[in-house]
Parts: sequence; C-alpha cells; structure tokens
Amino acid sequence: MGKDVIIACDFASAEETFRFLDRFTEEKPFVKIGMELFYAEGPAIVRAIKARGHKIFLDLKLHDIPNTVKKAMAVLSGLDVDICNLHAAGGVDMMKAAIEGLTRADGSRPLLIAVTQLTSIDQMRMERELLIEKPLAEVVMQYAENAKTAGLDGVVCSPLEARSVHERCGEMFVTVTPGIRFRAADSGDQQRVTTPEEAKILGSNYIVVGRPITASSDPVAAYRRCVTEFRG
Ligand code: C5P
Repeated sequence: MGKDVIIACDFASAEETFRFLDRFTEEKPFVKIGMELFYAEGPAIVRAIKARGHKIFLDLKLHDIPNTVKKAMAVLSGLDVDICNLHAAGGVDMMKAAIEGLTRADGSRPLLIAVTQLTSIDQMRMERELLIEKPLAEVVMQYAENAKTAGLDGVVCSPLEARSVHERCGEMFVTVTPGIRFRAADSGDQQRVTTPEEAKILGSNYIVVGRPITASSDPVAAYRRCVTEFRG
C-alpha cells in the first residue's frame, strides 16, 4: 500500500507547471493534475510530466452514463497515469463500467478512486439542494461502500473520515485525502483540515497538498516537511 505526498499542481499552464517542477532537483514528487491544467494543455501535459519521471494522479472526476464513462476511461488508460477518479454519485453501474474501460488488454490499470461528497457540499446544501436528508457522514460511508462494491480501489475523502472508511471498507481500501495544512489557522477555503502528521495518525494513504507547497516561498522545503511529517 502506497504512503505518499501528492502535490496538487493547480496551475493554469504547462509553462507555470514546469517552472514549479524544475525546482525539484533531487526528488520526483507524485503530482496531481486537475481539470484546469488538463483542459488548458490537454493530454500532452500528462505525457510530458510522466516523461519527467513523476507519478500522476489525474483528477478529472468523471460523472456520466456508464457507456460514456467507460469509453472516456479507455482513453485515459492509454495515458499511463497512476491514479484517476470519478464521482461515486454516478452509481455502481457507472463505476463498474469505468473499471472495464480503464483495464488494459494485459489486465493492468491505474488505481481508480471515487469522490464521495465534495468538501464544498455541507449538510445544509445536501438537504436543500440535493434533497438528501441523511447525515453527511452516513452518505460518505454509503458512497465509499458503493465504490468498494463496484470494485474500485478507494476514495477521496477528508483525513477526518479516513479511519471510518478503513473500518467500513478495509485497510487495503485506499484513502486519498486533501484538506492538509501545517497549522489549522491557515485553513483558507478548506473547511475540515488536518496537519500531515494528523493525517498519518488517522490512517490516510495519500495526502493531497496544494497551496501549502505551491504558494510557499520555498516549495521544496515545504514538500520535504510534508513528507517527513506524513511518512517519518
Ligand atoms: O491548495 P489545497 O491544498 O487546498 O489543494 C487541495 C487540492 O485537492 C485541490 O486541487 C482541490 O481541488 C483538491 N480537492 C479538495 N477536496 C476534494 C477533492 C479535491 O480539496 N474533496
């Protein structure tokens, strides 16, 4: 089971991304490519970062009818990424179709994980806008279980949910957790945050860290601090 720090490369262009990655002369961090960068630069950015020797989490959060997701995943499987994802809200059949699409002729495939409820959705929004009246924590756990039933490898969740997800879905079910800050005071727009060390104690397998590294005056030192606190 992996245990690693993934840097969220939330940049607008390849140029900005490479300027950032060029600062890492000794290590090859695991990087997350999100919608902004992928839509700006296309699949070429994935191939270029992979060619530099980085592992990649392609965070495109697919959500459509099963057949469409299956075909899109088949395209993504050719990009040789390490992790990709979709919305569990698309249902168990969509998630099963995604795995079929992602699996290559030789049986290999990237890890596939599901977003449960976005961290921007709170209890009130879920009830008023989505008409889901169960407690948020229960919805997250049900979606995690649906992902496991479909054969997925894990979920994106808050570090604060990681322990319950492992208890419900098993130690081998991967938890990838954003919402990481060195100190709670720096939480910004992330609602429920932990430090890298707390995430480790709570059982996260991968932490996704963006601004605490990308906006730091010394990103390499900030990355190393995350690695030491999370893996040390
Ligand atoms: O800058 P920060 O550390 O908040 O970045 C966290 C990253 O994780 C961003 O790329 C954000 O889109 C992503 N993310 C998140 N919450 C989720 C899913 C993804 O913060 N539920």
